Amino acid sequence: MKPVKVGLLGLGTVGGGTVNVLQRNAEEIARRAGRGIIISHAAARDINKPRICRTDGIELTENPNGVVTDPDVSIVVELIGGDTLARELVLKAIANGKHVVTANKALIAKHGNEIFSAAQKKGVMVAFEAAVAGGIPIIKAIREGLAGNKIEWLAGIINGTGNFILTEMRDKQRDFDSVLSEAQRLGYAEADPTFDVEGIDAAHKLTILASIAFGIPLQFEKAYTEGISKITREDVDYATELGYSIKHLGVTRRTEKGIELRVHPTLIPKRRLIANVDGVMNAVLVKGDAVGSTLYYGAGAGAEATASAVVADIVDVARVLTTDPGNRVPHLAFQPESLSNVPILPIDEIETSYYLRITASDETGVLANITSILADNDISIDSMLQKEHGKDNTATIIIVTHTTIEKYMNNALEKIHALDVVDGDVVRIRLEHLDAD
Ligand code: NDP
Ligand code: HSE
Repeated sequence: MKPVKVGLLGLGTVGGGTVNVLQRNAEEIARRAGRGIIISHAAARDINKPRICRTDGIELTENPNGVVTDPDVSIVVELIGGDTLARELVLKAIANGKHVVTANKALIAKHGNEIFSAAQKKGVMVAFEAAVAGGIPIIKAIREGLAGNKIEWLAGIINGTGNFILTEMRDKQRDFDSVLSEAQRLGYAEADPTFDVEGIDAAHKLTILASIAFGIPLQFEKAYTEGISKITREDVDYATELGYSIKHLGVTRRTEKGIELRVHPTLIPKRRLIANVDGVMNAVLVKGDAVGSTLYYGAGAGAEATASAVVADIVDVARVLTTDPGNRVPHLAFQPESLSNVPILPIDEIETSYYLRITASDETGVLANITSILADNDISIDSMLQKEHGKDNTATIIIVTHTTIEKYMNNALEKIHALDVVDGDVVRIRLEHLDAD
């Protein structure tokens, strides 16, 4: 069989890694795909720039439009990033009958519904394994491996840069900016690193995971997003003392009222495997009704880890190029006409537990005031810790609550904050037990 020709858009971290993996493992990959896979064309902004890969034998261009319309190219691999030019190029590739592989989570989370619909009409595939959790084959695991289950919830550390920053700050007391610079140098961070730090990248990925887990359209604009920039050393230390780790987590859960879709710093019991996932590593915990809890772990960013997922998608596409489009695995796991319109819940309606850190005057009745406000709002306390400051007659009170509804907590926090004896803002971090039942 003739080799399949691939046109690459982007020769940066992931593009370069993809060329290297395809060249190094060409023989094994051809044995798996049933035919050779060659990169015939590649586009970059500046084709004279030094690359991490060899480009001999590849037709290089600074015009990506030429690649997506070239009749020789069967599969377009989009590794440019962003959601403007990338969207145009992907839609043009589809219109020209090309199959598409992409690592671009912003593109899929924001424009996936439009892109999949265009691909469906044209009978081509759009594969996006590398868009979530780098090298971990999480899309395939949920979409195919767990197809017999009703997925109840999933929770994941799905941004490598953020987890790398939190780990280095905790273990080596390094400062935020220097770790972020290192993540950029290592090729982990997004072109705009605020996407990593403020949770936008994780929200893109969670949006995709929720769609394939629950069979709902992609709804990035409804995801609640909070980043890691406000996590302090003090809270990391108190969390450790109480037996928890603080991780930046994406959580999506099916409830009777709708679907929770949220990304935020989260306390997790230290005994959970996922609480011990450090550095650039990612992990996704998926709870299915039949299988129970399953955990997927691996590198969340980086050239070859991500290329591993890109190449797997290219192999998948190469294998099924000639099959009837109706018999392929649907893009979002469920048949497009069977997607459900179950609502995404506003953050006020989600259910979770909380860690609170309150600085207050160390005087009689303060604790009673605070606990009675919590009780009035139906919030029950799980554990509590009080630390004397020894100066200014203030104390730090740490409270861990049982599960409640976020709007009740907001109401209670407003009242606690209004107490004269409370000094400054109350720190609130959500807490998930992530147990199997
Ligand atoms: P890079 O910035 O390293 O690479 C982007 C590439 O796109 C560069 O080669 C650049 O060319 C090229 N490019 C940009 N604009 C144009 C244009 N107008 N015309 C032609 N080429 C262009 O990004 P990454 O490889 O890190 O990321 C690529 C995608 O993969 C993104 O969607 C990212 O979110 C995703 N991703 C990244 C991961 C990672 O670990 N880095 C992991 C998982 C997904 P030039 O080199 O000449 O500037
Ligand atoms: N910037 C992303 C991260 C790349 O750090 O997780 C992988 O998607």
